[in-house]
Amino acid sequence: MVEQLYSEYPELYDAIQSEWDYDRDVAFVTERLDARELAGTELLEVGCGTGEHTKRFVDAGFDVTAVEPNEGMLSLAREKTDATFHTDGLPGFDIGREFDVILAIRGVINHLVPGELGPAIETLETHLAPGGVLVFDNSPLPPEGNEAALDVGTYKHGQYARVVQMTPIDTGQLSWDSLVFTPDGEFFIDSYDMTPFEDVTIAATLSQHGLAVETVAGYGPDDSRTVFVAG
Ligand SMILES: C[S@@+](CC[C@H](N)C(=O)[O-])C[C@H]1O[C@@H](n2cnc3c(N)ncnc32)[C@H](O)[C@@H]1O
Repeated sequence: MVEQLYSEYPELYDAIQSEWDYDRDVAFVTERLDARELAGTELLEVGCGTGEHTKRFVDAGFDVTAVEPNEGMLSLAREKTDATFHTDGLPGFDIGREFDVILAIRGVINHLVPGELGPAIETLETHLAPGGVLVFDNSPLPPEGNEAALDVGTYKHGQYARVVQMTPIDTGQLSWDSLVFTPDGEFFIDSYDMTPFEDVTIAATLSQHGLAVETVAGYGPDDSRTVFVAG
């Protein structure tokens, strides 16, 4: 795996994600938290990336702690907002206290190898305060892989281009590979091993850890993820 986009090009990650509707995700979560009277409580965000959700939850009045294993992403997140940041990640970390809300938004769980799902949910459950809620999603990754796709957009003074394909590998995962061209004439390989979890496996693992689970089809009408709301 060569995770160069996360480690070396976090600003380019933000450019690639600039069309993503972060406000919609945050609205989805805050609606559910309002219904549980958890507005403005202590929130742990896992896999915060460059902090786009993080800053919105800080601005919405939550006391946010954010965990992210990738220092490149984290350095950009730190510039955007004043949450408490930790360089760490699943399946195991110990913040040493509980939170009313725990989030892992947009494919964070899919970065785990299959055998890490149980330990990861145990870690999340251990950090969840009584009456708290855990929200995370499962990306709809096709286990058989898919055909190459091209993504072109604006970055700094010019255009980037990214060619992506997903190929099944023998761990039961997908090798998610891309070749990325920057406006400065640089190009690099970016590669991740991603796990296409089945929703039923995730729901069963949450139940095994004593969590009641609601599954929702996406953060909004145009989103193909499955979102798990558990507590
Ligand atoms: C697709 S990005 C989403 C980032 C951010 N939540 C967003 O929506 O922009 C996936 C994130 O998961 C992080 N990640 C990868 N492996 C992880 C792990 N084992 N534990 C926690 N986060 C992880 C990556 O570094 C990356 O920031």
